[in-house]
Amino acid sequence: MESLERIREEILQCKKCELYRTKTKYVPGSGSDKAEIFFIGEAPGREEDARGEPFVGSAGKLLMEIISLLGLRREEVFISNVLKCRPPKNRDPLPEEIEVCGNYLLRQLEVIKPSIIICLGRFSASFIFKTFGLQFSSITKLQGKIFEVEAWGRRVKIVSFYHPAAILYKPQLRAEYEENFKKIGLLIKRRQKSLLDY
Ligand code: URA
Repeated sequence: MESLERIREEILQCKKCELYRTKTKYVPGSGSDKAEIFFIGEAPGREEDARGEPFVGSAGKLLMEIISLLGLRREEVFISNVLKCRPPKNRDPLPEEIEVCGNYLLRQLEVIKPSIIICLGRFSASFIFKTFGLQFSSITKLQGKIFEVEAWGRRVKIVSFYHPAAILYKPQLRAEYEENFKKIGLLIKRRQKSLLDY
């Protein structure tokens, strides 16, 4: 039967593209299998490659601040990437790498069935938009906008944000970034409240 553990074991032996040769560790993703919120980054960076965990470097530190801004803890959400291996020198993912590796991500989503998918950066957003039949234009235009699709027999919200690494390069974007995330925080609170009222 499909499970996160099974997907993880497959990733840890994956040789479907050449990135397994240059990576140090596979980074399958981590978090709760009951997560309502699923964050998707681009690919592991140097720290993540060394530790086998997603978002544990400087972009990860900012992401953790955002997660706590949402009133959540890392263990309550699921964090993964489009690619599970670090591309050499952090180069952009290649279309063929996204195609083969993206399948692991789709399987993780299918197991978790989150109600909110948060895409971090253009590679993650364009892959998820394409998968769910949405039109991707640019991360600048789409950032913070909430889209709704039908998936796994439920309404699923999809939101894109700049990659946290972009905010580290351009700190002038940070205030707007946090404001947009706060809107998602409100959405989560409303959802939690309606579940409690139910
Ligand atoms: N950037 C990403 O896209 N993912 C990580 O896990 C770390 C940095």
